[in-house]
Amino acid sequence: MIEIILPPSVAAVDTTADPPDARLFPEEAALIRQAVDKRRREFTTGRACAREAMGLLGRTAEPVLRGERGEPLWPMGLVGSITHCAGYRAAALSRAAEVAAIGIDAEPNEPLPNGVLPAVSSPAEREMIHELRRGHPGVRWDRLLFCAKESVYKVWFPLTGRWLGFEDAEVSVSPLAGTFEARLLRGGPRVDGHELTGLTGRWLVKNGLLLTAIVVPAHVR
Ligand SMILES: CC(C)(COP(=O)(O)OP(=O)(O)OC[C@H]1O[C@@H](n2cnc3c(N)ncnc32)[C@H](O)[C@@H]1OP(=O)(O)O)[C@@H](O)C(=O)NCCC(=O)NCCS
Repeated sequence: MIEIILPPSVAAVDTTADPPDARLFPEEAALIRQAVDKRRREFTTGRACAREAMGLLGRTAEPVLRGERGEPLWPMGLVGSITHCAGYRAAALSRAAEVAAIGIDAEPNEPLPNGVLPAVSSPAEREMIHELRRGHPGVRWDRLLFCAKESVYKVWFPLTGRWLGFEDAEVSVSPLAGTFEARLLRGGPRVDGHELTGLTGRWLVKNGLLLTAIVVPAHVR
């Protein structure tokens, strides 16, 4: 499903179930030795999706280890992103020669828990959500804003190695185009010798889920 909002240069694999035969490499299994069952299942299925995506890119299956801040460490020559939420897991991968970074995120199309929106949005973003809600009540715009910001972070972190707070990006959503723009309010990452001041993403609401995806090309035209 997430391939709908990704370009052909990205190999995406998703699933709504945890395949019972999915296996981890021993060095991956070591990362979740202490984890509870729910976490094991999402981690394992996320890795299984990543492995299948490697195959689509003509690569053999390799382990995906984890960096100090939780980021997936992709095999040489690949970039990618993983997401999971209740009833959904996905991985999106591409060749580093073509794509600098990918960020995907999945959330249920349900309101954010009480108290979360003020912590993750600016007054201008809350005003936008208010307007969007009036015109398109079927989408939980507060959750979509959150989802978009999570995908911003998943692109930002591998490019910079730095934290980015929810207040450090201002997101504006186009309801009909299925796109969003994230203005980066801190110095942006450099890609192909250019500083990125913003990111463009796509979003989708389908089967009770909100999906967002950002793909940063390796070469700035
Ligand atoms: C890291 C974070 C974005 C993950 O999002 P989430 O909705 O909680 O969880 P998801 O299931 O969608 O994604 C989890 C996957 O994200 C990936 N991930 C974790 N940390 C990451 C990082 N620093 N950089 C890139 N990807 C990361 C991992 O692959 C992880 O899955 P795995 O542990 O099974 O490999 C989130 O927990 C977080 O820390 N957010 C705060 C930062 C932020 O969003 N700032 C907003 C900037 S505008």
